[in-house]
Amino acid sequence: MAIVIRSFGKHVLLACLAIPTFAACSAEPGSHASNTDADRSSSIGLELQLASGLTLDQASYTITGTGGFSLSGDIDISNSQTLSAVISGLPAGTGYTITLSGNTTDGGTRCAGSASFDVVAHETTPVTVSLACHQASSTGSVSVNGTVNICPSLDGISASPAEVKLGGSIELSATASDADSAPAPLTYAWSAASGTFDDASAAAPTFTCTAPGPVDITLTVSDGDATPRCAPELSTTVLCTPTVADVQAILDANCTSCHSGTAPPRGLSLVDVRAVVGAPAAGCPQKLRISSGSSARSYLVDKLLGAAQDEGGCFSGKQMPLGKAPLAASDLAVITGWINAGTP
Ligand code: HEC
Repeated sequence: MAIVIRSFGKHVLLACLAIPTFAACSAEPGSHASNTDADRSSSIGLELQLASGLTLDQASYTITGTGGFSLSGDIDISNSQTLSAVISGLPAGTGYTITLSGNTTDGGTRCAGSASFDVVAHETTPVTVSLACHQASSTGSVSVNGTVNICPSLDGISASPAEVKLGGSIELSATASDADSAPAPLTYAWSAASGTFDDASAAAPTFTCTAPGPVDITLTVSDGDATPRCAPELSTTVLCTPTVADVQAILDANCTSCHSGTAPPRGLSLVDVRAVVGAPAAGCPQKLRISSGSSARSYLVDKLLGAAQDEGGCFSGKQMPLGKAPLAASDLAVITGWINAGTP
């Protein structure tokens, strides 16, 4: 039985219990330079499978180093044949000791062992730990067969452009890496509360804005390892801005039947919404019909909501569109989104 300990960069410890599938531990840090700048991914995945019908019901490790460094923990046993753990935070240094121990489920066998090792940044340090297993009544042996996994790292998402017109598209991409491409190649899962992706599982998909306003786009990358915290997630926010044409189309469909011609209600013509920006309201002269940059201070929005947005503020007459159902929330969002974006 062997444990191989490697260092990637300053903090990453890779521990591997590996006989006979030693190949699972053979990822060379030098061939994955991108991982060495990912200090945030300072974790290791440790998976251990027991053969020959023996199962551990408890396993723990303790790592000690110079200067009082100590790291210990129990290894979670998710089912009877497999146990896995994530160990992180081991700085480069000399004089480390690792102690592993575990009991089998029948309680009759206890395995323990330790070894000393150094952790050198950018170098691989193999360490062999001999585990002695003692059975209560008779002699026996444990055969250990393990795989190791380095969790992927996700360092950033880029969105270009970060702001686009409603219906426009944004090119997305991610800076993600996986030092060992095991147990599976990286997979990508993009999601957002609104909008569409041409391929939500691509590394660099195209996102299309379908609803106005800020949209949080979230990416999760996974290498197939179900270990908690082994599938990093990142979010970025893009802005989908309605155009003046989007707003005018809503007004043409709902408002200009009344608000047009030579004598529109309250002198308000809505055939050209740009002409309404900055004009004082007739029913509430202290308010602007549209206050560019602030839907909350725009009287036209008060009228669409049927009440003053400022508590106890001025409101006169009826909710618009007069005599019809209030505007759909999506139409209201286009109007407020355009006003909040500065009436572009
Ligand atoms: C059926 C006719 C009719 C329709 C349709 C209608 N309005 Fe009006 N609107 C009026 C009348 C009448 C008034 C004046 C009485 C009042 O303020 O309630 C008015 C007043 C307003 C005012 C207040 C203007 C001011 O300066 O005081 C705003 C803003 C307004 N409408 C916006 C809209 C919008 C936006 C729509 C479409 C979503 C719309 N209206 C649809 C008849 C209509």
